[in-house]
Amino acid sequence: EEELELWRERIKRLLKEQNAVLVAHYYTDPLIQALAEETGGCVSDSLEMARFGAEHQADTLIVAGVKFMGETAKILTPHKRVLMPTLEATCSLDLGCPPEEFSAFCDAHPDRTVVVYANTSAAVKARADWVVTSSIALDVVDHLDAQGEKILWAPDKHLGSYVQRETGADVLLWDGACIVHEEFKAKGVSDLKALYPDAVVLVHPESPAAVVELADVVGSTSQIINAAKTRPEKRFIVATDQGIFYKMQQQCPGKELIVAPTAGAGATCRSCASCPWMAMNSLETLCGVLERGDNEISVDPELGRRAMVPLQRMLDFRK
Ligand code: 13P
Ligand code: SF4
Repeated sequence: EEELELWRERIKRLLKEQNAVLVAHYYTDPLIQALAEETGGCVSDSLEMARFGAEHQADTLIVAGVKFMGETAKILTPHKRVLMPTLEATCSLDLGCPPEEFSAFCDAHPDRTVVVYANTSAAVKARADWVVTSSIALDVVDHLDAQGEKILWAPDKHLGSYVQRETGADVLLWDGACIVHEEFKAKGVSDLKALYPDAVVLVHPESPAAVVELADVVGSTSQIINAAKTRPEKRFIVATDQGIFYKMQQQCPGKELIVAPTAGAGATCRSCASCPWMAMNSLETLCGVLERGDNEISVDPELGRRAMVPLQRMLDFRK
């Protein structure tokens, strides 16, 4: 307890001294999310993290999340110093989409508009026509479909197939997945639903189709929180990383939030929905990076300039 308070005070002082602001994702440690809130930083989904970092006047952005979030911040504001508590925090979607193979895939389908998920490297974004996050993917693909465009989608096949089903667009999928959301099981969710028939099922679209099918609401992290907040029901089954419960509980006092099962039959697994890379962000690693000033994100300037085009398109699409 006392030690935690010391970390917190040290981090607050260092943020101020360095004119730095904390930009955190909903999946990070609640202690980090609370600090971001207290210090005028932001806690949000990946779209709003990108927007906040780009618009904030601080010289230094401390991005608590995973690598693609730091890279996105650097691409959008190359003159700012972007630091992360750890440089090891990656994402299975990013890992599963190596730039050279991806580029060859694009070359093989020159007639398609390339739409990539934000959970990718700078090099993959540089090859794209559009970058999207889960909160904006449906709207962007709808818009492209209405213009008669055929889509090449990467890397998340579950989000891609959800988008394809919802929009009816012609979508060619890359074969990638999120190791956290892929583990949610339809059987487990329907068993829970049988136990709590009144519960609303909230699902992140990185989950498999069979789970998405059971959802009352499908959406990004912020859309999931918003649904829990605005729906009148009192009980929610939530298929996304458990880090989200900090903000959800804060926004929904008195409501019961249940994490969707990830393994086996029934509601046996209640502790699996947790991203190992997001978990690398702690008060200790956060304080360390502020003290040392290392773990700086760098993006090749030429690559960054190319990646900025589809990223800026995303931000401009929904102001
Ligand atoms: P959103 O916060 O944009 O919904 O993304 C979820 C995610 O997987 C980030 O790692
Ligand atoms: Fe990547 Fe999944 Fe972790 Fe998000 S939760 S960072 S998509 S591995």
